[in-house]
Amino acid sequence: MGSWKIKKMSGHCGARLEGVSLLNASKSDLEEMRSALFEYGVIVLPDQHLTPENHLSVAEFFGPINVNRFFTPVASHPMIAEVRTSAGQSAVLGGTWHTDHSYDAAPAMCSILSARQLPPYGGDTHFASMAAAYEALSPGLKKILTSLRAWHSDSSFSESNVGLESNLDAFRDPVLHPVIIKHPVTNKPCVYVNGDFTTHFENWSREESSALLSYLYIFVTQPIFTARVVWEPGMVAIWDNRLVQHYATADYAGNTRLMHRITVEGVPLESA
Ligand SMILES: [Fe+2]
Repeated sequence: MGSWKIKKMSGHCGARLEGVSLLNASKSDLEEMRSALFEYGVIVLPDQHLTPENHLSVAEFFGPINVNRFFTPVASHPMIAEVRTSAGQSAVLGGTWHTDHSYDAAPAMCSILSARQLPPYGGDTHFASMAAAYEALSPGLKKILTSLRAWHSDSSFSESNVGLESNLDAFRDPVLHPVIIKHPVTNKPCVYVNGDFTTHFENWSREESSALLSYLYIFVTQPIFTARVVWEPGMVAIWDNRLVQHYATADYAGNTRLMHRITVEGVPLESA
């Protein structure tokens, strides 16, 4: 019987899980994988080479699939989003730290990315632990932030020029989330504001909010809180959108990169 060999990637974030093929993983292997996800925030599983059907099965272990309403679906498997950069594309998706789907009232719990075609260099994904970032804040700022909520909006997609669907029906009203959430599984406090989708604090103007939000975005993404995933052919990465933010490095213009992404339904978030 196989079981995972788990190797931490950095002090606060990320683990590499080897030694089990997801195609014949036992229930206990899958449960151990899920526990590692909630502990480390992002897990990378090399040499998996999932087919779309395998990818869907892995996602369904975590919960119902949440289909992204902005990304182009994989033609043969509409539950899977295609994250494609073409060689001729002038702008590459990424370059900003964010949390997937924070503009939803019940944001996606995890994202599962499967490498299909990688550029010859670059395209790494960085992750930062929002639990470690919270712990490093001063007691005074922790207290203020824990009393706040912030608005999140999908409106930034309207300015996107990187091949996302310009589907006007997809946009929804902004939603409020606590600035410091209680992780729904581990109860750990996590910072939950991000530069792509958070617009301002509840009952604060955008101008008033911007200085503190800008400070937080710089603070929470300091290298000490991060791990860097260097993609390998066939690799799968799974991250918990409540525990980490991520950043796609857009440094491979002129090359093709194709990833398949599935997001899994989450729950409304509560204050820490
Ligand atoms: Fe993302």
